[in-house]
Parts: sequence; structure tokens; C-alpha cells
Amino acid sequence: MTAVSELAFNIQSRLNGFQPETAIILGSGLGRLGDEIISPITVPYAEIPGFPLSTVSGHKGCLLAGTLENTKVLCMQGRIHLYEGHAPQSINTIISAFRLLGIKKLIVTNAAGSLTPDMPAGSLMLIKDHINLNLPNPLTGPNDDSIGPRFPDMSNAYDAAERQKIKELASRLNIKLFEGVYIMALGPCFDTAAEVRAFRILGADAVGMSTVPEVICAVHAGIKVIGFSVITNLGTGLKDSPQSHAETLAQADKASASLTLLIKTYLREG
Ligand code: HPA
Repeated sequence: MTAVSELAFNIQSRLNGFQPETAIILGSGLGRLGDEIISPITVPYAEIPGFPLSTVSGHKGCLLAGTLENTKVLCMQGRIHLYEGHAPQSINTIISAFRLLGIKKLIVTNAAGSLTPDMPAGSLMLIKDHINLNLPNPLTGPNDDSIGPRFPDMSNAYDAAERQKIKELASRLNIKLFEGVYIMALGPCFDTAAEVRAFRILGADAVGMSTVPEVICAVHAGIKVIGFSVITNLGTGLKDSPQSHAETLAQADKASASLTLLIKTYLREG
């Protein structure tokens, strides 16, 4: 058995025959959506052999399986970040296992810093594309051809048709939704002001420390991706105060109500 099929087997054995279709990965301070799943099966990562452990405050570290708005979901309440020291390939193992479990769609959320004053803290951004700042690629190493191709196409990584649906839903719900490019910095330190200026010149609208590895793996595995950033702060140099994780968590919590509403409506109608 490969590490991927072993992990899929270990997760499946905890789901009592439940077959999830959509995976959701919840970012810093955004765990609340998971609380809306009706009578979920809750499996702490620590109880799943081979599952990397999430160590960041604001991340719970549980897999939740259950129904949310008539959709069978598998939710990572707490994500795995590369800055925790995890091998990038461990993210590929998780997402590939999700594919073996039958996941067809992935909704990723994150907390991010804005690279422009036009998109203030509290904003919601639909991710239309990303920039991988030459960070270690989670697909590095031998390719598993049964999961996906060696050289995946990234031209529609954040599915354009799904984004269109979401923009229409947001406008109907009166939720202001920005759309932009997410750039991942490894972290865990926040960015310097010079980096924030550089990211803007590179064409990004928001910066964070996650998401890109999961999205690369999902695209590789043929899973459709929808991504949201909750803007928790203006980037370094664009505001007077220092950055802090406490601010990220507080702002994420504030903005999470409209994100929860949007995702729930999308699951119900999408
Ligand atoms: N930079 C990087 N990651 C972040 C930020 C930021 O300003 N805010 C929330 N996550």
C-alpha cells in the first residue's frame, strides 16, 4: 500500500460508510463553518495514522465529516502549514487521499494581508489565481500517475465557471466580494514592507502563508478548486501598527459570518 492509499483507508475506516464529495479547508480563525455541519463525525488528526499534526493556535486539528446544506463534506478544521516544518509532500498525501475518498471539489479559505489600501481589513476576496513564490512544490518527487499527471496545467486552477457562480451569489446576497491574486510567502514571520511592495509589483492582491500547496495538489488530482481569502489586515508598510497573529484571528472571526453565508449558499445552490 502507498502512503496515499493507506491514509485514504485510515480516514475511510472512521467514516462509517459516509462518502464525502466536497472538501473544505478552513483557515486561521475561520473554523466556525465547521461548527455548522450537522452531527459530524469528528476525527482528531492525532487519531489518524500518518496524518500530519496542525500546531497553530486558531487551528483545531480535526477532520469533520457530515452534511452541510445538503452537501456531503469533509472538512479540515485546522490546516497544515509548511512553516510548521511539514514536508510539502505531506500536503500532497492528504489531498491525494481525499481524491481516493471521492472528493471532487475543494473549497479553501485563508486569512490574508491586503496589498492595497483599496481592499481594507474585513474584506472578502475570491481567489482568481495565485503566485507560488518559488516555494518547495508539494508535487516534487516521484509522480503518482494514478492520481494525476507529472506536469499539471494551472491555467484554470481556481475554476472560472465556479467563480462566476459565486460572484453572482455574492451580489444577490449583497456581500461585497473582491476578486484577486493570492501570493504565498512561507512565513512564519510576517512580511517586510519591501516584500509587500514587491508582491504588489508582481501582480498579487493579497498575501498569506498557506493555500497554494493544497491548490497545486488538488489541481494535480483533478479536484475543482474554489478559494477565499478573508482580509485580516493591510500588508506591512500600508498601516502604522505592527502585524500580529491576534489581529489576524480577531479580524477573521469578524468577517467569517459573511463568508459562512456565502459558502453555505454556494453549497446549497451550486
Ligand atoms: N502576511 C502574511 N500572512 C498573513 C498576513 C500578512 O499580512 N495576514 C494574515 N496572514
